Amino acid sequence: MDDLLALLDTRRSTPSRLLAGPGPDDATLQRMLQSALRVPDHGALTPWRVLLIRGEARTRLGDLLARRSRERDPDATEAVVEKDRARFQHAPVVLAVIARIQAGHRIPEQEQLLSAGCVCFSLLLAAQALGFGAQWLTGWAAYDAVVADRLGLGEGERIAGFVHIGQATQSAPERPRPDPSAVLTEWQGGPA
Ligand SMILES: Cc1cc2nc3c(=O)[nH]c(=O)nc-3n(C[C@H](O)[C@H](O)[C@H](O)COP(=O)(O)O)c2cc1C
Repeated sequence: MDDLLALLDTRRSTPSRLLAGPGPDDATLQRMLQSALRVPDHGALTPWRVLLIRGEARTRLGDLLARRSRERDPDATEAVVEKDRARFQHAPVVLAVIARIQAGHRIPEQEQLLSAGCVCFSLLLAAQALGFGAQWLTGWAAYDAVVADRLGLGEGERIAGFVHIGQATQSAPERPRPDPSAVLTEWQGGPA
């Protein structure tokens, strides 16, 4: 239990631009997923799947992002386009967590999406526990219909997050964390 709290207490993202190879190999990825997929899932719908993006596929995705960047904003500067091209070039492995939302199901869509979000968060924890740095990113690419189509997303599917995973080349910056007493209130029961 102390180990789990220590992991939570030290969890922090490593910005993707600070991630480098080598990434997790196939066996390590399987191990990571085995733990990370144990998320709450109302109705046991498994309302998510995971798409592995690594190697040359990252370059092809970068090229697609650069092209879409220009299409979305014809006035985009070269620097903006190149930044978009580079988004998937840093981390050796990116796991796209894809929420599979069943509309009209008795389990509300919000709960299905939240379960997919839990997968993203668990992946961050599992990656860190296995000695990797990781960051959960979305950006415009997560919401772009052309990108979704090229990644093979189907009806009802949407990207919950791109989890970038690799070796941290620098220790991740820490940031102030919320004070529990600032967010915790107690409901007293209200008027009778
Ligand atoms: C759904 C979601 C999407 C995010 N997308 C981005 C993003 O596109 N760009 C970004 O800089 N941070 C994004 N973040 C924030 C980072 O994942 C991370 O929380 C942030 O770098 C702070 O680090 P920390 O996790 O150590 O608090 C996103 C977080 C969530 C939950």
